[in-house]
Amino acid sequence: MPSIHYSLSLVASAFALGVLADDTADFDWSGIQPTKNLVYHPCYGTFQCARLEVPLDWHNASDPRTVSIAIRTLPAVVRHDDPTFGGSILTNPGGPGGSGIQFAEDFALPLQRIVDRPGRKHYEIVSFDPRGIGYTTPAADCFHDPVARSAWMLEYRGIGGLTGVGHGHLSESAMGYTLAMNDMFARHCRQSEAKYGEILSFVNTPSVARDMVEIIDRIDQLHNPTTKNTTQADLASTAVDEAVINGDGKVPRLQYIGFSYGTALGNYFASMFPGRVGRIVVDGVTDADDYANGDPGWLGNTIDDDEILERFWKGCFQAGASICPLANDTNISSASRRFWSWVKSLDEQPRSLEGPTGDTVVLTGDDVRRSVGDIFDNPIPGFRDIANTLHRAMAGNETDLFRLAVGRNPLPLFHNGTSSQLQPVDLSSIDQQYSILCGDGKDVTGKPVSYWMRYAEKQKAMSKLLGSYWVTSRLLCSSWPVRARWLFNGPFKSPKADSRLLPGIPAAPLLFMSTELDPVTPLRAARKMAKGHPGARVVTQEGMGHCALQSSPSNCTRSILAEYFDTGKVPDRDTFCKADCGPWDLNCHVQQGLGIPEID
Ligand SMILES: *[C@@H]1O[C@H](CO)[C@@H](O)[C@H](O)[C@H]1NC(C)=O
Ligand SMILES: *[C@@H]1O[C@H](CO)[C@@H](O)[C@H](O)[C@H]1NC(C)=O
Ligand SMILES: *[C@@H]1O[C@H](CO)[C@@H](O)[C@H](O)[C@H]1NC(C)=O
Ligand SMILES: *[C@@H]1O[C@H](CO)[C@@H](O)[C@H](O)[C@H]1NC(C)=O
Ligand SMILES: *[C@@H]1O[C@H](CO)[C@@H](O)[C@H](O)[C@H]1NC(C)=O
Ligand SMILES: *[C@@H]1O[C@H](CO)[C@@H](O)[C@H](O)[C@H]1NC(C)=O
Ligand SMILES: *[C@@H]1O[C@H](CO)[C@@H](O)[C@H](O)[C@H]1NC(C)=O
Repeated sequence: MPSIHYSLSLVASAFALGVLADDTADFDWSGIQPTKNLVYHPCYGTFQCARLEVPLDWHNASDPRTVSIAIRTLPAVVRHDDPTFGGSILTNPGGPGGSGIQFAEDFALPLQRIVDRPGRKHYEIVSFDPRGIGYTTPAADCFHDPVARSAWMLEYRGIGGLTGVGHGHLSESAMGYTLAMNDMFARHCRQSEAKYGEILSFVNTPSVARDMVEIIDRIDQLHNPTTKNTTQADLASTAVDEAVINGDGKVPRLQYIGFSYGTALGNYFASMFPGRVGRIVVDGVTDADDYANGDPGWLGNTIDDDEILERFWKGCFQAGASICPLANDTNISSASRRFWSWVKSLDEQPRSLEGPTGDTVVLTGDDVRRSVGDIFDNPIPGFRDIANTLHRAMAGNETDLFRLAVGRNPLPLFHNGTSSQLQPVDLSSIDQQYSILCGDGKDVTGKPVSYWMRYAEKQKAMSKLLGSYWVTSRLLCSSWPVRARWLFNGPFKSPKADSRLLPGIPAAPLLFMSTELDPVTPLRAARKMAKGHPGARVVTQEGMGHCALQSSPSNCTRSILAEYFDTGKVPDRDTFCKADCGPWDLNCHVQQGLGIPEID
């Protein structure tokens, strides 16, 4: 499926068998009237929700169109006038296109517990759906019809990935068909813009960063009625750094943690509005320069993947067959050979399968490569799960084969076994992901099959397992129909921080976090990005997985994080943190909510 490996939309568990666990549907957002100032309403149990109205076009004060941003806040355990109230921490789960509203469901409480220092600092956790996404309106939606979207996705899936079906190497005809599918997608987008109004060119990252300024200003205003309102005219530029002065003569500042793509958003923010930086943590770091300026870019992301696969095999054999049944083989090379020849047999002869509720699906070699790659995000508990699934699947167990076909990506259309009602797939659909991703990046439209074939070969050289799948991330922009109205191409840098809250200067250096081996945002990107922000430090956490906080439990990482939010202090130098346990340890769990990120 044309979904990408870049986000952490924390939905459901690893193998949801196509049933979308959307915990956010039980609150009626349409019951909230959007407002220019922040008005909270109780929602989702202990949360508070608001719809904040902001201009669609930050650059055109005479354009009356607006966007209503859905905000979901977990209040602090103390009142905001309590001396230990530490302010708001905004979050972004990645994607691009991940829903903050959905993310908050599992993530807000564990995050609050990690950053709170009882009796000393207590924070509220603020999540929001970025423009175009989820419950924020208007939605970036090229189809306006779940059946039309699903039909497109099913046909796309039918190509069988860029290897096509039949041989397992890159196929020009599969590439040609994929380009035509992307063009068809673009036609849907154009039709939608003409019929329902413009949105796609207004949802990319600079506007979202500007929206975050608005969110923190409006939050400040709740507690501090003398905070001035900014006018749209004030805000056409980074002059917004100084635009809002509250009673203390200080500007409200952002406290933020972003994961994966959310690190690009954090980097854009720090680079565009350095005087608005309070604390910024980025975990699982995107190379923002490559993301914004790569042509086509996205080549270095999967550099760790084949190494992760090797470590998977080593760990499996060390753990032994009682924990990792794939180790029931003579040695690693014969187990690995058995795996690849099985994948090859599926490349040559895809299989039709039936799931537990009667859904049917065709399994290809590409599905297996992708499912195994997906697991790399979360070795805990992913490694043990996939080892068992692969073991049974290779022995012919249909349930497990079905799981591999569906992976973590629900089938584009499913009926849930009890009704014939078709349901849409996702809160953050491809239109939403790609309107941001293609909007931010260089224009790659109009390139021939040969251009993309060369690109795909390079991706495949980067990772045998995932390269040909990762191509999709950029390939889906091959006919992207609009140019973003507000582009920011860097430089991704900020001035040296100063805790005295000086205009135009961050209050603290940025804190970068990464695992040693990350399947889509490798450590070297964190090191590269940190160079643009003087005083920033990189915390490298032992082990594999996408984003440190979500890969393994580590008291070390967590205490650095809490210290940073509290005091603004980063470690004296780049730091290595041990993980408390690893993927093959039976009692190793990642804290609920921080432990079950999903990519899609
Ligand atoms: C600004 O918005 C107004 C009102 O919609 C429109 O007439 C004008 O063309 C816009 N200006 C630019 C530069 O887009
Ligand atoms: C800011 O705008 C809001 C909503 O329009 C209004 O309620 C509030 O009084 C304004 N605040 C100031 C300080 O002007
Ligand atoms: C390991 O393989 C042997 C021989 O093929 C088989 O008898 C045994 O049941 C297998 N054990 C496990 C745990 O799968
Ligand atoms: C692995 O086992 C196979 C037999 O299954 C054997 O032929 C091969 O030499 C072994 N490789 C190593 C490196 O021990
Ligand atoms: C297939 O695997 C599932 C677990 O995924 C298990 O419940 C089921 O019993 C297995 N079926 C057979 C025939 O072994
Ligand atoms: C299936 O759909 C029906 C009708 O919409 C609904 O009542 C039921 O709860 C759904 N079941 C599951 C497992 O989602
Ligand atoms: C991590 O912290 C928890 C709670 O403070 C403690 O129980 C645990 O032993 C610590 N683990 C390690 C490996 O230090």
